[in-house]
Amino acid sequence: MLANHTLGSKSFTAVAINTASKAGEWIQSKLGDYNSLHTKSAMNDLVTEVDKGAETMIRNLIQTHFPKHGILGEESVEPGPDASRQALAKLSGAEYLWIVDPLDGTTNFVHGFPFFAVSIALAYKGEVIVGVVYNPVHNELFVAEKGKGAYVRGRRLRVSAEAKLSDSLVATGFPPDKDHAAVNMRGLQALSGKVRNIRVNGSAALHMAYVAAGRLSGFWEVGLNPWDIAAGSLLISESGGMVTDPLGQPYNLNVRNVVASNGLIHQQFIDELKAAEAAE
Ligand code: IPD
Ligand code: CA
Ligand code: CA
Repeated sequence: MLANHTLGSKSFTAVAINTASKAGEWIQSKLGDYNSLHTKSAMNDLVTEVDKGAETMIRNLIQTHFPKHGILGEESVEPGPDASRQALAKLSGAEYLWIVDPLDGTTNFVHGFPFFAVSIALAYKGEVIVGVVYNPVHNELFVAEKGKGAYVRGRRLRVSAEAKLSDSLVATGFPPDKDHAAVNMRGLQALSGKVRNIRVNGSAALHMAYVAAGRLSGFWEVGLNPWDIAAGSLLISESGGMVTDPLGQPYNLNVRNVVASNGLIHQQFIDELKAAEAAE
């Protein structure tokens, strides 16, 4: 059982929603109007002052309500998988840990491609209990609470009903980290022809929200970070779907390679990835 779910007068979920909304509105106001574009771990790993400003805003809002909670935010971690693992390990003692991607889909934001989101999760003793993914362009705020379901605009989310890969619309992504390019390409090749079609839209968090909403049957990607998937994982499990690593082990905060689905296609999805040596 969760300990006290409310501190002061604001619930965790209310703070997550309020924070994601404020950051998302500000990000949208900066669309086409950012000033500095830099690269991080690779020439295709982008960051702008909007990513950093949004993270500062989110940290300040969370800390105002919950000064004792830990916060893992992408822009406060050195680039690259090792630094990301270390940052998570360092914060693993925090009873309450907020996991924040202030702008998931920076490349899209930079190009004006309207598919990006703010992703905020709260974990209690390592288990995600609140997940919010906010797409300011469509004004869609996806919210999940452990054991209480997932919603968008007051409507309960349900995963899709496709039971066969051949009827499924799935999505994937290409992380900037070149080490995973080959494995992701093998997955892409193995699944094209087996599924109805594949989408690559550039925001892992929104792809996962779309699985929760039944708009996608599944999503997989190798080489992600905790902030890309923590909120989405709860959205999907609270919508009746399944989130594992590509070997079928249940999701936890250390998972970086993810397979998410409506549950019905999960085993077939994993089997295809394994057969293609696209599962790590
Ligand atoms: C990226 C997006 C993208 C995924 C990459 C992520 P960012 O996050 O989620 O869809 O393919 O692996 O790094 O850098 O835009 O926050
Ligand atoms: Ca991200
Ligand atoms: Ca980001």
